[in-house]
Amino acid sequence: MQEVLDRLRAIKDEIQQTAIKDSGELEQYRIRFLGSKNVLKDIFSEMKNIPPAERKAFGEQVNEVKQLAESVYDQKKQELSGASKSGINKPDLTLPGDVIIPGSLHPVTLVRNQIVDLFARIGFTVATGPDIEDEWHNFTALNTPPDHPARDMTDTFYISVNPDVLLRSQTSTVQVRTMEQQKPPIRIVAPGRVYRNETISYKHHVYFHQLEGLYIDRRVSFADLKQTLYFFIKEFFGEDFNIRFRPSYFPFTEPSGELDIAHKSSTKWMEILGCGMVHPNVLNNCGIDSRAYSGFAFGLGIERLAMLKYGITDIRTLYDNDIRVLKQFTHA
Ligand code: DAH
Repeated sequence: MQEVLDRLRAIKDEIQQTAIKDSGELEQYRIRFLGSKNVLKDIFSEMKNIPPAERKAFGEQVNEVKQLAESVYDQKKQELSGASKSGINKPDLTLPGDVIIPGSLHPVTLVRNQIVDLFARIGFTVATGPDIEDEWHNFTALNTPPDHPARDMTDTFYISVNPDVLLRSQTSTVQVRTMEQQKPPIRIVAPGRVYRNETISYKHHVYFHQLEGLYIDRRVSFADLKQTLYFFIKEFFGEDFNIRFRPSYFPFTEPSGELDIAHKSSTKWMEILGCGMVHPNVLNNCGIDSRAYSGFAFGLGIERLAMLKYGITDIRTLYDNDIRVLKQFTHA
């Protein structure tokens, strides 16, 4: 009996001290301790020589060693497969590199850049302002006092219970900020995001982008406005469009107009932008003497131009982030 227990102990020691370096040694280990003729089977076969009262305890001891043999096997096997994997994963420096497909600019960004570049050619620089605004910059300074009906022209998002904190509904805010900070001559374009509490549909979204233009100097006239916008339309859309000005109303310009274009082969007029001569009240509100200076302003929707340019018929397409749409602009 003692002799059998000594053999079992020796097997256990051997298992615990096993060092396995490769799959060949692992297989030898498996045959010796877990195979069909493994050493533990010899020990089990001694069972009949064990006094019945001690058989149970003996059986448990042998089982324990068997389980140990199995778990050591599993563990070593795992270690080896990890090692061989990391061998496989060693980089092969002779392989060609992965092709990295660069992203592309969003169509709205592309069109914004095109417009900014066009106006840069005739001396306009870029101005910016915050998305979160106050009533003064979004309305009051723009000749739209609190009870003015034009406040209803856009459904403004108010951020807090304090009605003085809102998301700008138009980039015209940047006109005010620029005139407050700079002395004429001023010649800026201000691209940026605006927000309106609209029902989302194929033509409206709760946010979109506008580009505002402002030119203030001595003796700026409506002819300057027209000529500037003719230049822009010709450069942006090409020569094949007719242009017309239509009278309109905005509180911050007087007179106000809207510019429409139609393809020369068509009579379908499309509205492109609003514009006008800056209202004297706006100049005075912003600290510019309206008796000495005049100016023009215009505002356009960038999504609208992007949609016309690229034949997009649903504004939501621009904000779905569908890669099949976006990747079409890689080379634009
Ligand atoms: N802010 C106007 C809007 O959101 C657009 C606009 C019209 C801007 C006329 C102007 C302008 O600067 O002169 O609809």
